[in-house]
Amino acid sequence: MLDLANKTIDETRQGEAYQAETNGSQQYSKYFFIESYGCQMNFSDSEIIASILQGEGFGSTRNVEEADLIFLNTCSIREKAEQTVRKRLTEFKKIKKTNPGLLIGVLGCMAERLKSKLLEEEKLVDLVVGPDAYRTLPSLIEEAESGTKAVNVLLSREETYADISPVRINTNGISAFVSIMRGCNNMCAFCVVPFTRGRERSRDNISIVEECTSLFNEGYREVTLLGQNVDSYYWVDPQTNHAVDFAMLLEQVAQVSPLLRVRFSTSHPKDITDKVLHTMKKHHNICKYIHLPVQSGSNRILQLMNRTYTREWYLGRVNKIKEIMPDCAISSDIIAGFCTEEEQDHLDTLDIMRKTGYEYSYMFAYSERPGTLAARRYKDDVPDETKKRRLDEIVQLQNHLSLESNKKDIGKVFEVLIEGDSKRSKTQWMGRNSQYKVMVFDKTDPKQQPGTYVHVMALECTQGTMIGKIVEQPQLIEA
Ligand code: 5AD
Ligand code: SF4
Repeated sequence: MLDLANKTIDETRQGEAYQAETNGSQQYSKYFFIESYGCQMNFSDSEIIASILQGEGFGSTRNVEEADLIFLNTCSIREKAEQTVRKRLTEFKKIKKTNPGLLIGVLGCMAERLKSKLLEEEKLVDLVVGPDAYRTLPSLIEEAESGTKAVNVLLSREETYADISPVRINTNGISAFVSIMRGCNNMCAFCVVPFTRGRERSRDNISIVEECTSLFNEGYREVTLLGQNVDSYYWVDPQTNHAVDFAMLLEQVAQVSPLLRVRFSTSHPKDITDKVLHTMKKHHNICKYIHLPVQSGSNRILQLMNRTYTREWYLGRVNKIKEIMPDCAISSDIIAGFCTEEEQDHLDTLDIMRKTGYEYSYMFAYSERPGTLAARRYKDDVPDETKKRRLDEIVQLQNHLSLESNKKDIGKVFEVLIEGDSKRSKTQWMGRNSQYKVMVFDKTDPKQQPGTYVHVMALECTQGTMIGKIVEQPQLIEA
């Protein structure tokens, strides 16, 4: 699967251990190790957690053996995500045996979903902290150090961590994620997020723009604005009563610098406005790429999922995007085998994939989550083999669509932001075009470096990568 900066799961990053950049001279009394699972939002939260802990004098380490505190920032979206975390916890049991003072904390969505039940189920866990309670981590750690199990899973209607500057960790120094809102008010029948992350709330635009400006000044050249449903971003300044919607926010961030690329994720098909599309068109540095999860192509299933749009509405949005920005890439999340899904529903999904012509998709077999609308109302009645077979067909089709889309780009020239060396060779760069496609090309000039924009002509492609060459040398756009 391609990695993508959005609320969907980037499989290559699951379980990634974070180490913050620290100035080596600082001495810390205690060290924490944090491993993250789930969506980009969760990885972004780990940067906030690291910032809170560093502010309290804790140092980060990537070596689990050296840690005084181990944190798992967890995901509940599918059963498999929770199983992975439970397996990881059993591995920590061994370390705890040799280091009895070690504290183990479960943070994030699984903490929120299971609350203190986690302490009973996973005996070695000392702290359970939900996504809105990270400010209380220092006092919870103290509590746990004194031998009491510490739990805070209170959800908040206001918390956005707006004033906390995330510590950028494991970063390429070029792309950063900026959280613009938290929680979700949509009640998609399959989804646990409204229960684990609470009500939707937007962060004030001033602190968002400030964060993006500091990132730019530090050398970053790409920000991805993150929210479960960015189109419903809405902030009213309490002093002026002036309201800012997502299109306005996008514009403000785009104006930080023409050299700062702006991406965002995730959009909801029911909420994405023409105003947002026109703002994207107007600003060259707002990337022409929209993650617009369809979930299913069948009207009957969409209704059961409570997505509140039809396939006709969805295709109408796609047409509008293509009409306003013919070069805009679109990606999707798709679920195979939702409750009562019949063969015809599945065929409708394949059909909407073809009609939209997705550049990428994140594809999943339906996994029932306790407490969700679907778990309470419907039977998870599609047999596993059927789910798997349908998922395979969806993946096959997406592979075909991705390759077709890449083939169409051969011979075209794209502006590419260099991110670093290509995986295969130090003589080649890897970067992305506005549409988020990965491009690999030979280095041609010592002036080029990560963060530089170059023009690249696509010459060949695979399903996941465009191979090209730099053109218009040496007209580099200076970073
Ligand atoms: N089962 C399978 N996939 C799910 N997703 C969310 N909940 C479930 C579930 N219970 C998928 C959706 C969503 C993405 C983040 O994960 O496609 O858009
Ligand atoms: Fe992200 Fe939580 Fe949803 Fe997992 S369950 S995808 S961590 S919001």
